[in-house]
Amino acid sequence: MRKEIIGNAVLYLGDCMEVLPTLPKVDAVITDPPYGIGIASNPVRQMHEKLDWDAATPDESVLSAVIQAGAVAVVWGGNYFDLPPSQCFLVWDKMQPQDFSLAMCEQAWTNKKGPAKLYRQSVLSYRKEHPTQKPVELMKWCIEQAGKPQTILDPFAGSGTTGVAALEMGLKFIGIEREPKYFEIMCERIQRVVDAPPLFPFSCDTTGRGTQDSQACLLPLLNQIGEKV
Ligand SMILES: C[S@@+](CC[C@H](N)C(=O)[O-])C[C@H]1O[C@@H](n2cnc3c(N)ncnc32)[C@H](O)[C@@H]1O
Repeated sequence: MRKEIIGNAVLYLGDCMEVLPTLPKVDAVITDPPYGIGIASNPVRQMHEKLDWDAATPDESVLSAVIQAGAVAVVWGGNYFDLPPSQCFLVWDKMQPQDFSLAMCEQAWTNKKGPAKLYRQSVLSYRKEHPTQKPVELMKWCIEQAGKPQTILDPFAGSGTTGVAALEMGLKFIGIEREPKYFEIMCERIQRVVDAPPLFPFSCDTTGRGTQDSQACLLPLLNQIGEKV
């Protein structure tokens, strides 16, 4: 087992069944386990190296440990696993054409009460470094649906999309991934978030005019624009 701490993220290279017993209970588990449909070796996904991590679903005992690791649980591919009935499924509409050979939507099981919810984003709208990589915006939406938890755990983290979403929202993340190749990708993606300068290094006050800090920060820029027009 290897452990890396990058900013607000703690990342483990290892089997989640070995790591989970060492962790405290977190606010939310938001995860995307193998669906057991051999998607990693699907001929449509030729551009990715064929690894066999998706040959089988995790055992019942693994899923049970995963769900119990958080106060709230969101499990993508929930329709493939033997989980209790749930009212609040989260559905991702992948905006695929009707006659396309891949699924038009994916479903996440949750242990939340409340109506099912739908999120829409094209599966072609982002670059993938993992064959079943989720969009960062989808995982941010999941975090919001989970009630804005402070610490989020993903025991099947893949390329670390849940972690990227959590850190970009200013939250803490614990990620576990078994494949060294995907673990490295996760570390690189998380490091990029930590290294990125904040988009807006200031906040607005209720008047919308900005705080003194923001005015001081923007003034030189506005002056430069003023000189050019
Ligand atoms: C569906 S993928 C997750 C993809 C991820 N949502 C993303 O956006 O990159 C599931 C991942 O779980 C990993 N995995 C499978 N069994 C595992 C285990 N027992 N412990 C830790 N990771 C595991 C696989 O290597 C795979 O990368």
